[in-house]
Amino acid sequence: MIEVKNLKKTFASGDTQVHAVNDISFSVADGQFASIIGRSGSGKSTLLSLLGALEKPTSGSISVGDQDITKLHDHALISYRAHKIGFVFQGYNLVPNLTALENVMLPMEFAGVPKKDRLERAKALLSRVGLSDDQQLRKPARLSGGQQQRVAIARALSNKPKLILADEPTGNLDSQTGEMIFELLHELAKTENTTIVTVTHDLSIAGKTDKTFRLNDGKLVKK
Ligand SMILES: Nc1ncnc2c1ncn2[C@@H]1O[C@H](COP(=O)(O)OP(=O)(O)O)[C@@H](O)[C@H]1O
Ligand SMILES: [Mg+2]
Repeated sequence: MIEVKNLKKTFASGDTQVHAVNDISFSVADGQFASIIGRSGSGKSTLLSLLGALEKPTSGSISVGDQDITKLHDHALISYRAHKIGFVFQGYNLVPNLTALENVMLPMEFAGVPKKDRLERAKALLSRVGLSDDQQLRKPARLSGGQQQRVAIARALSNKPKLILADEPTGNLDSQTGEMIFELLHELAKTENTTIVTVTHDLSIAGKTDKTFRLNDGKLVKK
C-alpha cells in the first residue's frame, strides 16, 4: 500500500515559486495499477520523482508498506531505491554496451545477489516479458523499441520491488506496441503483486488502469 498525505514540492524559480506538487493525498493498494494523467507541466514527473525518493518533498509524507520514505537518510534511501522501486522510462535507458540479459542482471549485482541467481532470474524475467533466448543475448541497438521496453520492465522487476514507477513508458512506441506494453504491466501488477504507478498521455490506456489520477497545476482533480 502506498499512502501519500498532503504532499507538496515547491521549486524556487527566480523570485517566484512553482508549486509543482501542491497538497496531494491519495493511496494505491498492493497489486494495483494506477495511472497519472495531466497536461505538460502539471507535476506528473515531479510526483513520480517524489514516490521514487529521487527528490525530497517540501512537506507531506509518503508511506510505502510501513515505511515513511520522506524520513529516510543516506544508506536507507539508497537501499529503498535499489530494493523497493523499479523505474521504467520513456527512453528505455538501457546500458547500450550490455546485452539484454546483462542489463537485467545489473541491478541485482548492485543488490548483492549471487551471480548464479542473477543469471537464472534475469533469464526467467526476460522469458516472462516475451524475449527469446537469442534476443536475450542481443545489445539494445539490435532490439526493437517494444523489445527494449520489455527488457527495461524485466530490469525494473529484477529486485522484486514493491513499486514500479513508469514515466510515459509507451511514449516512444506505436499505439499497438504501447498497448501490449501496458497489458504486460497490468498482468505483472497482478502476478507479482507489485504496485505500478504510470504517467501516460494516452487516455484510452489510462481508462483501463485500476485507478486514474488527473493532475492540474500540481493539484489532484477528482475523477
Ligand atoms: N527542478 C526544477 N526546478 C524548477 N522548476 C521545476 C523543476 N522540475 C519541475 N519544475 C516545474 O514544476 C512544474 C511541474 O513539472 P513536471 O513535474 O516536470 O510536469 P510534467 O511531468 O507533468 O510535465 C513545471 O512548472 C516545471 O517547470
Ligand atoms: Mg513529465
